[in-house]
Amino acid sequence: MTDFPIRKLRTHEEFEQVRRIQKIIWQHSEIELTSTHQYLLFLRTGAILLGAFDGERIVGFVFSFPAVFPGRSAQHSRQLAVLPEYRSRGIGKKLKWAQRREAGRMGFEWVTWTADPLLARNADLNFHTLGAWARTYLTDYYAALPNLALAPGLATDRLLIEWPLHSPEVACRKRGRFPLRCPDRMEKAVEVRRVADRLVPRYRSPGGTDGALLIEVPGQLTEITKDPDLVSQWQIVIRRAFRACFKRGFAVTDFVSAGTGCYILEKITGKSE
Ligand SMILES: CC(C)(COP(=O)(O)OP(=O)(O)OC[C@H]1O[C@@H](n2cnc3c(N)ncnc32)[C@H](O)[C@@H]1OP(=O)(O)O)[C@@H](O)C(=O)NCCC(=O)NCCS
Repeated sequence: MTDFPIRKLRTHEEFEQVRRIQKIIWQHSEIELTSTHQYLLFLRTGAILLGAFDGERIVGFVFSFPAVFPGRSAQHSRQLAVLPEYRSRGIGKKLKWAQRREAGRMGFEWVTWTADPLLARNADLNFHTLGAWARTYLTDYYAALPNLALAPGLATDRLLIEWPLHSPEVACRKRGRFPLRCPDRMEKAVEVRRVADRLVPRYRSPGGTDGALLIEVPGQLTEITKDPDLVSQWQIVIRRAFRACFKRGFAVTDFVSAGTGCYILEKITGKSE
């Protein structure tokens, strides 16, 4: 069984393979693809581009570039993709761990990226498997870019994911150990309810707990995307919930998948910044 080695990508031929993967995964038109000369320029100015190989074929890649946020710099990860026929074999997380190693080697302490909060599978990778956290909600981040929305007419809401590369939580997960979270008190800000075969959100304004807040989402996006009104309702409800929780000093620190998905939010005072 192949272990899909990860290597730095450097040649035009490799950039072309990456562009082909972009087309397959995101159905981007030619003009939206990152061009080969852009990849080359990014790499000459501090970007990281890594590929996972099956023989000579690139089957997944991760791409990030240096970015400046108020008070600190980071590698901002823009693209992570694994070809559909190669998924669920550990390649996605292997690419992220390799990205962490490379960013650390370059002296970065953070990798950041954005993710649509309704994508439970990605949330599991970001928060549970990798140990990243989020405390910023970006409403309609890509504004007028409908092809980055989950469904026609929907806003492009994102969570800003922050990955503190040297935190004990992240190091722990790298070793395959997952801290057990059993806060004394838990309060569900959003709950998934089945009403007449539809998964609808139920919102309860978060009270004054110092324990954990939970935001539950459907486990599979396909459970709601067939109904445009429903997916829009979900977006509005979780936007409201995340913004309320973040305003009160909570951050996403974990995600649990068990039929539905559940974001776990805790006060982040004392976390490494
Ligand atoms: C996201 C993506 C790169 C993952 O690649 P992959 O090779 O299938 O991922 P892995 O096999 O390494 O799994 C990584 C983690 O994803 C999560 N995951 C994978 N399948 C899952 C499922 N069915 N349910 C919940 N979580 C799941 C888990 O956290 C898993 O880690 P674990 O195996 O330790 O539990 C791939 O699905 C993809 O290309 N998606 C489209 C592009 C995209 O959304 N990119 C942005 C990602 S933030």
